[in-house]
Amino acid sequence: MDSIRIIGGRPLEGRIRISGAKNAALPLLAAGLLTDRPLMLGNLPRLADIETMLQLLAGHGVEIDLAENGEAGRTAILRTPTLADDTAPYDIVRKMRASILVLGPLLARWHRARVSLPGGCAIGSRPVDLHIDGLRRMGAEIDLADGYVAARAPDGLIGATIRFPSVSVGATENLLMAATLARGQTVLENAAREPEITDLANCLVAMGARIDGIGSDLLTVDGVEALGAAEHHVLPDRIECATYAAAVAVTGGAVDLAGGRLDLIEATAGVLLDAGVGLEQHGDDLRVWRNGASLKGVDVTTQPYPGFPTDMQAQIMSLMTTAEGAAAITETIFENRFMHVQELRRMGADILVKGSTALVRGVPRLSGAPVMATDLRASVSLVLAGLGAEGETRVNRIYHLDRGYERLEAKLAACGAEIERVPE
Ligand code: UD1
Repeated sequence: MDSIRIIGGRPLEGRIRISGAKNAALPLLAAGLLTDRPLMLGNLPRLADIETMLQLLAGHGVEIDLAENGEAGRTAILRTPTLADDTAPYDIVRKMRASILVLGPLLARWHRARVSLPGGCAIGSRPVDLHIDGLRRMGAEIDLADGYVAARAPDGLIGATIRFPSVSVGATENLLMAATLARGQTVLENAAREPEITDLANCLVAMGARIDGIGSDLLTVDGVEALGAAEHHVLPDRIECATYAAAVAVTGGAVDLAGGRLDLIEATAGVLLDAGVGLEQHGDDLRVWRNGASLKGVDVTTQPYPGFPTDMQAQIMSLMTTAEGAAAITETIFENRFMHVQELRRMGADILVKGSTALVRGVPRLSGAPVMATDLRASVSLVLAGLGAEGETRVNRIYHLDRGYERLEAKLAACGAEIERVPE
């Protein structure tokens, strides 16, 4: 398997183009199942997870035309005239947990679906009970057997009021898509309100869905008979953007993040500003800089949006390893999302974990080492650590990075980082 080799200590200077958001693109692609009319999606990132979703959709019978658009990502035109197969097989779903997002659309349009129970990142148990309970409330009959969710709604889905006992991005997306074609009104209470859900809702509205409360935690959906054609451009990836902002914070220097949006990363930006990093929006570019001044430790607690994102927790921890003072980093969304801690320690970080909080005491500098991570954001946090460390860092097992970061090493190298992919 490829690895990434980094020689730390080079400041980043230049411009990095932010790609379309992976976590918006995945549900948007699944929404293609909801209509027999063409759905055109632009600004799709070139990522392994997108390939996995396209492969899954092709198996269901979705016809896919892909075009390259240079800096503007890829464009896909999806057409789903008929259902070829109602099964989302284990071999695909195990690679990517977001495969569960086909469940709602398949059930809404064809009244049946069989979806393998997901695997995905090794960051806790990550059940799908909220998806299943919600669909049951909408009249679906669901059996769990042989590792599969087998769902039927012989008379179609029926609108219902569903109050999520805890906030779930995926369950909100699945039920939102399902509700667009259900009979009557569906109310989703305590819905997640991540920007990717707003992006999905806007696309569904363009397809003819009737949705109120977009951007809030109360979504009201009046089901329609059928959805139509639409064109939609995927919003920029706020986690990729915040990750590169954190990279500049680690290395020093100044970078313009093209397409980066401060309004989408306010919680992370707040932490970076408190730590001593500069951030300013200039039109479509987000400028990030740190000149000389040392970083200060800042406490962080992960929360659903608009709180501090769990998907930035590992990167901020990496940053805090060399900040002045201490930082308490508390993870409230996923259990077991501290796999990067062991590896950061091997690079010289001083981190003490107590339950769901990691206490990071800043050290002057990390030292390069061979490291490896078992999930996407943990892997990128090790890249950030390597960019700031003394000497050589080798990040092994990087297939997770390719799931979520488009041409990571090329984007960083173009800004002066000494980083390369080493084929096995
Ligand atoms: C999405 C994101 C992921 C991000 C996460 C939280 C995508 C493709 N992935 O994942 O990058 O880290 O949101 O912001 O958009 N839960 C249940 N039962 C369920 C569903 C979830 O208990 O049925 C729990 C999970 O175990 C977790 C919490 O709810 O502890 C939040 O998970 P959720 O918001 O559903 O995350 P995903 O949609 O899987």
